[in-house]
Parts: sequence; C-alpha cells; structure tokens
Amino acid sequence: MGSLKFLSLALLFFTTSQVHSNNTQRKEAVVYHDREDAKIRSSKRISKTIFRLYESTVEEHCRIALYQLETLEQCNFNTSLPLVMIIHGWSINGMLEGWISKMAAALKSNQRDFNVIIADWLSLAQQHYPIAVRNTRLVGQEIADFLEWLELSLQYSRSKVHLIGYSLGAHVSGFAGTYISGSTKIGRITGLDPAGPLFEGMSSTDRLSPDDAHFVDAIHTFTQQHLGLSVGIKQPVAHYDFYPNGGAYQPGCHFRHVYNHIAQYGITGITQTVKCAHERSVHLFIDSLLHDDKQSMAYWCNDIHTFDKGICLSCRKNRCNTLGFNIRQERPQRSKRLYLKTRAHMPFKVYHYQFKIHFINHIQEKQLEPTFTVSLIGTKEDAVNLPITPVEEISGNKTYSFLITLDTDIGDIMMIKFKWKGTDMWAHIWDTVQTIIPWTKVASYQGFIVKTIRVKAGETQQKMTFCAQNVENVPLLPAQEKIYVRCENRLGRQKKKFK
Ligand SMILES: *[C@@H]1O[C@H](CO)[C@@H](O)[C@H](O)[C@H]1NC(C)=O
Ligand SMILES: *[C@@H]1O[C@H](CO)[C@@H](O)[C@H](O)[C@H]1NC(C)=O
Ligand SMILES: *[C@@H]1O[C@H](CO)[C@@H](O)[C@H](O)[C@H]1NC(C)=O
Repeated sequence: MGSLKFLSLALLFFTTSQVHSNNTQRKEAVVYHDREDAKIRSSKRISKTIFRLYESTVEEHCRIALYQLETLEQCNFNTSLPLVMIIHGWSINGMLEGWISKMAAALKSNQRDFNVIIADWLSLAQQHYPIAVRNTRLVGQEIADFLEWLELSLQYSRSKVHLIGYSLGAHVSGFAGTYISGSTKIGRITGLDPAGPLFEGMSSTDRLSPDDAHFVDAIHTFTQQHLGLSVGIKQPVAHYDFYPNGGAYQPGCHFRHVYNHIAQYGITGITQTVKCAHERSVHLFIDSLLHDDKQSMAYWCNDIHTFDKGICLSCRKNRCNTLGFNIRQERPQRSKRLYLKTRAHMPFKVYHYQFKIHFINHIQEKQLEPTFTVSLIGTKEDAVNLPITPVEEISGNKTYSFLITLDTDIGDIMMIKFKWKGTDMWAHIWDTVQTIIPWTKVASYQGFIVKTIRVKAGETQQKMTFCAQNVENVPLLPAQEKIYVRCENRLGRQKKKFK
C-alpha cells in the first residue's frame, strides 16, 4: 500500500547515495523540447494530463478535454475571469491529496472569482520518483499545449494564467513556462516547496526559474538537508523566494523526532513528519487567501541567523514583501531571499520586532551570559515575559540586536518592562560583591546599565526609543525589573514639571 511506496520515497530522500541526473534521461527529455514533434504528438494523442474545472457547488470536477471546444462550454469556463491552475506533486497512492480542494475553495473565497483548474497528472506522478521527475517535462508540455489552445480558440491570454505547483508540480509549472511558444510569458507561477532531489543545482532550464513566467514566487518549507538530500529545493528559483522559519523545519513539524514517530506510529510516522513541513508551503498560501487581514510579511536577509538577530526588518527598496497570493509583483534583477517567522497553525502570521539594547558593563573581567525577559504594554494588548536570549556574550559597551515575534497585534508599544532573570552564577557574584563592598557602594557602583531600548516594528516600519522611566544610571541587578517608557513621553512629562 501507500506506506510501502512512501518507504521508497523515504529511501530516496534519505539514502546515502546521491542520485544523479543521467545523460540518457536528458536525451529522452530533449525529445519534448522539439516543438514540431510535440505538436504532432498532442494532435494525435489524448493528453495524459486531465484538466478538471473545479466548481465549489458540485462534487465532481468537470473535465475539459484538450482540443474539444465544447467541453469548455459544458464546464462553464468563463473567459472573462482569470485562470488559476493547481498542479500537484509526486503521488504515493494515486489519489488527489486533500489540500487540493482546500486550495481550490480558498481561491474562490472572499468574493474572489477565478476559473480554477486542477491539472491531474496522477497516472504519471504515481511512479518511481526518477520516472515521475522525467514525466514533469511531458506534463509541462501538455499544460503549455492547453494554454496555447485556449489562446487560439478563445483569444484567452496566457497573461491571465497563474500556475500554482506543489513539489514536483512546481517544476511542471516551470516546464510549461519554458515550452509555451512565442515570446509572451505566462502571468504568474507560484512554486510551493519545489522538489529538491534531481533539481537542486541544475541549470535554470531544468527546473523552475524566474524566466518561466512574468512573475515567479516560491515558498520553501522543508529544505533540511539529510545525507545530502532535501525534500524541498534550497536554492532560490523565483523572483521572490520565501523561507518561513529559515525554510529547513517548520514549527509544529518535529522532524528531529522522526525516529520516535516511526517507533510510535510505524511508517506513517515518517509520512506525517515529511508531509507536515513539505505541505506547510501549501497551507501558508491558503492562509494568505483566507485571512486578508492577516497577511504575513517577509524580509530580505542573507540568512536565517542574521534574521534571528532582528537585523533584517527593513522594507526600503523592495526589501520586504507579502507572502502568498497577495504578493507585490515587482521583479527584482536577482532572486530575493525573504525570511519570516510563523506560528505553528493558521493564521500563521506573527508580528516581528527588532530590539536594540545598549548595555554598559563595567565589569570587564566578567562576561555576562544573561537571559532577559521583556513585557510589552501596548495600546491594544500586553505581551508578558517574552524571553530574550542573547546569541553571544554581553560584554563591554555594545549595542545588541534581538528579534522578538508576537502572535497578536498589541498596537503601539507604550511601555517596556525589562527584567534580568539572573543566573546562579550572577546571584553568586552579587553576593560576593555585596559582602566585599558595603551595599551603599554597590549601589553607586555602575555594574550593568541599560539606558535606552530602541524598537523597530517590521510590520509597521515604526521606530521607537524607550528611556528608563526613573533615574537612568542605576544599574540593573539580577531578578530586578526596570520600566522603560517612550522617551518623548518622558521628556514631555519633565517639561511639564519645569513649567
Ligand atoms: C545512465 O543510465 C544508463 C542506463 O539507464 C547507464 O547505462 C549509464 O551508464 C548511466 N550514465 C551515467 C552517467 O550514470
Ligand atoms: C463570467 O464572469 C463575469 C465576471 O464575474 C460575470 O459577470 C459573468 O456573469 C460570468 N459569465 C458566466 C457565463 O457565468
Ligand atoms: C563604557 O563606557 C563608560 C562611559 O560611558 C566607561 O566609563 C566604561 O569604562 C566603558 N566600559 C567598557 C567596558 O568599555
């Protein structure tokens, strides 16, 4: 059954021997490059890909047969509406996966209207992985034929077409874009965790690439390398490539527990684990259709480690964009990698903040590795006891940058409560200090001072500076909490006092 086939996927994905694309395979693929040959084939032969028009009101999808105009009419293909085509990936059990109808329904939600067609290539996808990979070119060709036919028979422009391909389906979309004749491009292609094995590192003509449509976006959710292979492709393949949570793992999908899952659930454990992160790309996209008011924002960054310091939350010069359906369709010269954090469940959106904290630490011989918590008092809500763990030691006079994410919109931040949680080591040091130096001297001894906290909100691009509510130069001691308010408010208050 499915689980056995899945095992072969697992073996392919996790095998030690890297699978290489083979020349023989390439040669066969070249046959499909030949336009004339393709024309002859498609006019003589029925398309292996089944085009199913989705109607939310009826159970059965209406089948549109290539080159049979009457089927377009029978299925109520509406030429005044754009077309979204959903293209599935490699198939384990030969059945359309559950996410497909969820995606189709989401596309028609919130007063949107499209012709939604599901490109069903199950018979070619339920094969050994390398064969299914080879078939992506044939299916891409058939989709190109389909779109050319719409253009010829109904003057239906390919620029009104958006292909959404998952896993291998992403590369199918790419091949459709490559093989369609003429210089006009397909409107948009979205690659949802485009497949990695046999595509990673290949030239742009052998995988999804920005050349394949007027606008190409991709969401990478399962690029964790395991023995040299990853399920999703790691390299950028689009104009904008999104890497939620870094793209390797996803929250709520505990890949590291895969072996426990197998022990517990048998082979289905691995299915669930792999599917969870791989398919997350799909649900992030569906989320963008269902929650218009909760659009996830992502930010250009070199890598996730830099992003995790909160340094990359800029929207200047197209450095940020919206994940999913409502993306701003600008085309940068080079692929842009965008990062964001998400929740583990829908709605996935979080609010990103950079905290820049300047520490003055006079104790030079001791480097601090403290953990802090902040509580944020906002105009709408509060967020309490958020942990900040510095990635590096706090030493000297230096500004440190941290990323903090919130699940909800707390409005404008009015006050920050900053607490040094303190460690055993620190409690000990302070004890020592206090026994050696009388307490009065300790108080004047400037141990550890945070004068200002600067905050930048990614989602609003708002910048704020917070000053200590009371006296500035009192050092912060372990387990102590200090309150910071907006500097302008504090200054305002002081001015009033002087009046
Ligand atoms: C490719 O595969 C064929 C058989 O399928 C084999 O004869 C050939 O040696 C392989 N070539 C490479 C470069 O691995
Ligand atoms: C096609 O879509 C347009 C725009 O939504 C609508 O006004 C029209 O009635 C539709 N035509 C048919 C035949 O459903
Ligand atoms: C930090 O700066 C203060 C003056 O603002 C100075 O007195 C102190 O020695 C500096 N500390 C270190 C570790 O450089």
